Amino acid sequence: MVFISKRKGFLLFQLAILVGAGFMLVALQGSPDAKFAEDGQLLRPEGYREWVYVGTPLTPNDMNNGKAAFPEFHNVYINPKAYKVWKESGVFPEGTILVKELVSVGSKAAVSGAGYFMGDFIGLEATVKSKKHFPGEPNNWAYFSFGKLPNLSAQAKAQATTDCASCHKASAADDMVFTQYYPVLRAAKAH
Ligand code: HEC
Repeated sequence: MVFISKRKGFLLFQLAILVGAGFMLVALQGSPDAKFAEDGQLLRPEGYREWVYVGTPLTPNDMNNGKAAFPEFHNVYINPKAYKVWKESGVFPEGTILVKELVSVGSKAAVSGAGYFMGDFIGLEATVKSKKHFPGEPNNWAYFSFGKLPNLSAQAKAQATTDCASCHKASAADDMVFTQYYPVLRAAKAH
């Protein structure tokens, strides 16, 4: 009797380990990499607010004759796996995804003074580095726009190279990424 319950206990223990390993596998597979639809479009990244935040450029309308291309705050995040490699080697690896979350300029006054304060989430863009998916793009980066609320799309096709990549290639500091505006990435590389 005692022997059987011990044995059962051991089996339960083994089962627990298997279930645990299963969860870990799911967690790893569900880690925040670029995910593509069958037709090759990029699925709108989710959970990116739990990635590594790298910086927030802002090109407000009132400093751009009222017509900035992106008048919102641009909160930029990188997937943790890529951040780790960047930190260790200073290279953006296959599968790097940078998300640019657009947040409106809300109030321009706070108790702390006049300024630009974040309003609401309004849109999303992203760039993915993948030799496998984008062998013909400059440095294998492809660029995506998911539009703005209320018409945020669930997936997006890669933009034409001349629409996005060309400017990034011409002016970004490091492998087409604007690290000159991302203190977190600069600090990690210098580390
Ligand atoms: C005229 C130059 C220019 C063009 C064209 C351009 N970008 Fe950018 N992009 C920038 C600059 C500058 C930044 C960083 C500062 C900022 O966000 O204002 C940036 C940042 C980004 C980032 C954050 C990651 C990074 O690489 O720094 C994403 C994602 C992005 N752009 C997507 C796009 C997409 C999608 C398009 C095409 C629809 C596009 N960009 C076209 C200049 C450009």
